[in-house]
Amino acid sequence: MKIRFEERKQLKEKPKTNELGFGKYFTDYMFMCDWNEEEQWHDARIVPYGPIPLDPASMVLHYAQETFEGLKAYKTQDGRILLFRPDMNARRMMYSNKRLSMPVIPEEMFLEAVEALVRVEKDWIPDQERTSLYIRPFMFATEAGVGVHPAKSYVFMIVCSPVGSYYPEGVNPVKIYVEEEFVRAVRGGTGFAKCGGNYAGSVAAQAKAAKLGYTQVLWLDGVHRKYVEEVGTMNVFFKIKGEIYTAPIEGTVLAGVTRDSILTLLKDWGYTVHEEHLSIDDLMEAGRNGDLEESFGSGTAAVITPIGELNYRGEIVKIHQFTTGELTQKLYDTLTAIQWGEIKDTYLWTREIF
Ligand code: COI
Repeated sequence: MKIRFEERKQLKEKPKTNELGFGKYFTDYMFMCDWNEEEQWHDARIVPYGPIPLDPASMVLHYAQETFEGLKAYKTQDGRILLFRPDMNARRMMYSNKRLSMPVIPEEMFLEAVEALVRVEKDWIPDQERTSLYIRPFMFATEAGVGVHPAKSYVFMIVCSPVGSYYPEGVNPVKIYVEEEFVRAVRGGTGFAKCGGNYAGSVAAQAKAAKLGYTQVLWLDGVHRKYVEEVGTMNVFFKIKGEIYTAPIEGTVLAGVTRDSILTLLKDWGYTVHEEHLSIDDLMEAGRNGDLEESFGSGTAAVITPIGELNYRGEIVKIHQFTTGELTQKLYDTLTAIQWGEIKDTYLWTREIF
C-alpha cells in the first residue's frame, strides 16, 4: 500500500508521563484511507491529527455504521517497539465489519497502516513502567443520506494516544455492579462485534453504577438475565474452587485478545478452564460460602483488573478480601512481561516494529 505523508508544521508538546491517564492526549498524526464502490480502498495517508470534514448527513451520524479496534505499542527497556497480537485485531475488525455490512479491511492493509503510523509516532510511546501507546483503528460510513442501507463510502482511520492505567484504581481491585435492568447483547445481535453502538447502549448502565460508587457493570445474558457475560469494557473470569470460569464466545461476548491469551496461559499452567454459562445465583452462592477465590476482568485497555466486590440486588460479596489474588497477579505479571519484552515470548505473540 502506498501511504502519502503530510508533514505538520509544528509538533505538539508531549504530556508528562505521570499525567497520562487514559485516552486524554492524542499524537501528532493520524492515518486515513477512503473506500468507495468505484475505487475501493484508495488514498492512504498519514496527515496531521485534527478535525475532519463530515457531511451532516453522513450515515454514521444517523445509523451508527461504525466499527473500531484497540491495541497497544509497547517500548521495551532496550528501546524496541512491540505490538501484541495485532493480527487478532485485524481479523476481529473483519468480523465486525461483516456484521455491520461494511467492506472489510484486508489483514495486511490493517497491519501496514498500524505499523506505519506507530513508526511515525515512535517518540510518543511512553517508556515509564506499564505505560504504552494505545492505538485506535476505526472505520465509519461517510455517505450522505437519510435512508437506511449499507453506505457506499467509508473512511478507515487510526489515531494514537499515550496511556497509563484505564481505571483510576490502577491495578487495584474494582467494584462491580451486577446489572439487571439493561442488557448488552443477545444472540443474533452485534454483541460479538466491536462497534460503537454496543458501547452507546451500555453507558446508561455504567452511569447508574457509577452513581452507586461502582466502577463498571457485570452484564447478564439478554434472554434469561441469569448468566454472567462480560464486564463493561472487559471479559470476565472467576476462580471457583481452583477452577476457572469465563463466558463462552457464542455471539454475545467480545472475543478478547487478552481473554484468548489468558486462556492459553491458564491451560499451559494446568488449570481446568470452563468456557461455559455460569449463573449469577451460583456465582453469588460461591461468593457467600467462600468458594469464589478470585475474579478479574481482561481487555487491551484494562489489561487485567482484579474485581474485589460484586453487588447483586443490594447483596454485596467481597472477593479475596478486596485485594489482588495470587493467580490474577501472576497472569498480570506474565502477560505484561511478554508485552514489554521482559521475558521470552514463547508464544510468538509480539510483533516488533522496525
Ligand atoms: C479495549 O480494551 O481496547 C477497548 O476497546 C475497551 C474500551 C476502551 C472501549
